[in-house]
Amino acid sequence: MEPLQTVPWTKPPRPFVKWAGGKSQLLDRLEQYFPKNFDTYYEPFLGGGAVFFHLVNTRPKFNAVLSDVNKELMSTYVVIKNEVEDLIPLLKEHRVKYRSDPKTYFYKVRASEPSLSVERAARLIFLNKTCFNGLYRVNKSGKFNVPCGWFLNPSILDEENLRSVSAALCWSNAKILSQDFQDATKNAKKGDFVYFDPPYNPKSVTASFTSYTEGGFGKEDQERLNQWSTELSNRGCDVLLSNSDTPEIHALYKDYHIEPVSAMRAINCKGNGRRGHTELIISKYS
Ligand SMILES: C[S@@+](CC[C@H](N)C(=O)[O-])C[C@H]1O[C@@H](n2cnc3c(N)ncnc32)[C@H](O)[C@@H]1O
Repeated sequence: MEPLQTVPWTKPPRPFVKWAGGKSQLLDRLEQYFPKNFDTYYEPFLGGGAVFFHLVNTRPKFNAVLSDVNKELMSTYVVIKNEVEDLIPLLKEHRVKYRSDPKTYFYKVRASEPSLSVERAARLIFLNKTCFNGLYRVNKSGKFNVPCGWFLNPSILDEENLRSVSAALCWSNAKILSQDFQDATKNAKKGDFVYFDPPYNPKSVTASFTSYTEGGFGKEDQERLNQWSTELSNRGCDVLLSNSDTPEIHALYKDYHIEPVSAMRAINCKGNGRRGHTELIISKYS
């Protein structure tokens, strides 16, 4: 879709990291559920931000509040917004060093603990582009623990996209937070649009892939999200959610509009398969 107004980027911004549960493949189905206009857009389970980038490309100017409990990820968004020109040379350096000895350099960067936020942002993007299956996962002590991937020529740096992302974050006056979803949306009011894309309710115990960060997102969190969505809807917000097609989610959202859609899961719980499955688009509009 064409942008509706003059925008400060030449190429439409898109996610700069691949993220487990990323919504790029569902955008066509989600589009009909996105309101045409809204005041502030809230996305508190941001991940790679596929929906935010879709909206900046297709909606009139809006303000955004973007959040995710993953602190390293959100700090990367802050760096891209404010220091993109300092980040680009660091990624160029990673690209050169990776090409000369990919595996050794990957593990060297993985073991590093840079102190500057711009260096940490470059590390997160580099690891996301070069690790196995391109997903960000940390172990119990908060350390990134994905092994090296086998890419011949990974795109470690897309300068034009990083500048477009930076421009989009500035254009939407993005408030970038790292909080629990409830805190991140506590100021939402009538006329705002809130999209919740939480870690999904598992279809089975073995499918419980919730390790985006330390700590999972259990049954109580799903219930808390359900109650909070209803509170926001009662305030007059437009509320949209995604979740898995399970009896628990149908029961929780029985008063909402629910549409099952088929999707392709790029990263499953073991990271070794791609297959079709059904998920739910859940909405309650004022
Ligand atoms: C399904 S992913 C979101 C994917 C995103 N829509 C995309 O397109 O990439 C869920 C995200 O929720 C975050 N998360 C987990 N628990 C959370 C919580 N209690 N509050 C806010 N974010 C949380 C995870 O860090 C993860 O990035």
